[in-house]
Amino acid sequence: MITFGYTSDAANHYEIWSANTPDVYLDGITQLLNITYQALDVGKVFVQVLNINVVATGAAPTTSAPPVPYATPRGFANDITQWLAARQGSEAAIAKTLMFNNINIPGAAPGTVIAAQSYTAPDYAYNWVRDSSLTMDVVQSFYAAGTGSHKATYESILFQYAQARYQEQVDPGLQTGLGEPKFFLNNSIFTGPWGRPQNDGPATSAITLMEFSSDYLAAGGSLATIRQAIYDGPQAPVLRDLLFVANNWTYSSFDIWEEEPSDHFYNRMVQHRALLMGATFALQFNDGATSQILSAAATAIAATLGQFWDPIRNLILYEYGPVLRGKYSYKDVAVVLGVIHGYAGDGIYSYTNDQVLETAWQIATSFIPVFPIAATHFDAQGRPLGTPIGRYPEDVYNGVDTSLGNPWYLCTASMAELFYRASTAFNKAGSITVTETSLPFWQYFAPGQTYTCGTTYNLGRGNNYGWGSVSPNGNTQQGNAMIASLQGWADAFMRTVKYYTPAGGHLSEEVNRTTGVAQGAKDLTWSYAALLTAAFARAEAGGAPVGYSNYVRILANL
Ligand code: NOJ
Ligand code: NOJ
Repeated sequence: MITFGYTSDAANHYEIWSANTPDVYLDGITQLLNITYQALDVGKVFVQVLNINVVATGAAPTTSAPPVPYATPRGFANDITQWLAARQGSEAAIAKTLMFNNINIPGAAPGTVIAAQSYTAPDYAYNWVRDSSLTMDVVQSFYAAGTGSHKATYESILFQYAQARYQEQVDPGLQTGLGEPKFFLNNSIFTGPWGRPQNDGPATSAITLMEFSSDYLAAGGSLATIRQAIYDGPQAPVLRDLLFVANNWTYSSFDIWEEEPSDHFYNRMVQHRALLMGATFALQFNDGATSQILSAAATAIAATLGQFWDPIRNLILYEYGPVLRGKYSYKDVAVVLGVIHGYAGDGIYSYTNDQVLETAWQIATSFIPVFPIAATHFDAQGRPLGTPIGRYPEDVYNGVDTSLGNPWYLCTASMAELFYRASTAFNKAGSITVTETSLPFWQYFAPGQTYTCGTTYNLGRGNNYGWGSVSPNGNTQQGNAMIASLQGWADAFMRTVKYYTPAGGHLSEEVNRTTGVAQGAKDLTWSYAALLTAAFARAEAGGAPVGYSNYVRILANL
């Protein structure tokens, strides 16, 4: 982190600035080449050549032998297919019921979500903007797939949600604009001390409501209704949130864990996606001027995303800035969440991107030495368990206060989701190219094969898409085996969620790192939402015998 301070005025046609680097976060910097900065007040970009040699003082990255894989799961596993089946009594059905139990709870404002059924130790009896938007995104998937009275119910919840979001935006007590993170259940602002703003919320809320709008229109709904209730009617939330994002993305914000004010990968990813979607959305209302504002901001964010890649650590950093909260591993599963919630379909940090895969491998394996329960590699039937995933290795939040951090259900399910989505995307592309960057990922998750960097492995007969009628050659066999490994490990991560799910199927926030017993907020809504989006991604990847649309429809209509 380099802090610049302005120390002198421009009386003599030059300015004096001082630079301070208390904690060089990219070890190995040897020279400062130039300063390029954007002056928001005058709307100009300035470049000053420096060419100054510097000595970096940060700790060198630790290099240790890469972890050795303890299992080689291949393909979708029947126990997970059963556990997530679209039928009464499955965990997917239980998660759906318990998630809806937390929406519109008695006495709460319509369209709100209680973050967890936990009123003390911890008190999660609030409507968090982030948690609600991610929950409503699942409602939206059910809306899109459901039929009849089920569809109608989801539709009315989503219109209520739009209204609730508008109420939040105009609450007279906002301290940090639309980035306020949490509201009481009557949807009035929580004004106590808190990490604010959290500028991911306006983006994820807009994404959910724009997705809903497309499906509503596709189902024959009226554009005028969407304009009035969702886009820019007097009580519509989406344009407000999108303009807030376009105008505020450069400012630092707290992260999704509500702990660190900085420039966060997760936030930028969801903001970029929201703006790109918004640019297209606005055109439906012939609002070309807004579309241009949003698309220009999306382009500007896109230009910053590459800066999160740390070429020394081969890692996508979760934030720019100094190490806070002792996060010396520089790893945070928020990066994986940023990709699954924020990938915009434009090729930037896609599910199959080699930097994303490399980062996912590093994050997943970083918890092996941290959580004692990670030493349990197999369930009672001998089936492999993926490493339990927490927020970041150094986490000390125990779900109530601070001591030792734990694995989280939603983090573990999100790792599975990334793997399912990667397998779908590779299958659609028809091939996998192994690069030097992604090599460690493949060596760990699909071991036992020889990889040549730069080689493209084709996919075909034998994988779930099963095109082609000729027997696969060696190259294709290897590609198919890689896909099977992705699917096998995705299921292994889901099996970890399953393994630590208590009888009855209730999910809290976390599981104790030593005992594996559920801990923290009970019935965390986001845990259910994350389980369901992972289940949807599994169905899309080919894991549900009935296929993706039947799977979501049957579940929606249960
Ligand atoms: C509550 C936040 O929600 C949680 O994410 C954080 O870790 C703890 N406070 C500790 O700061
Ligand atoms: C703490 C988590 O860190 C944060 O992400 C979440 O929004 C709140 N709990 C509410 O679930």
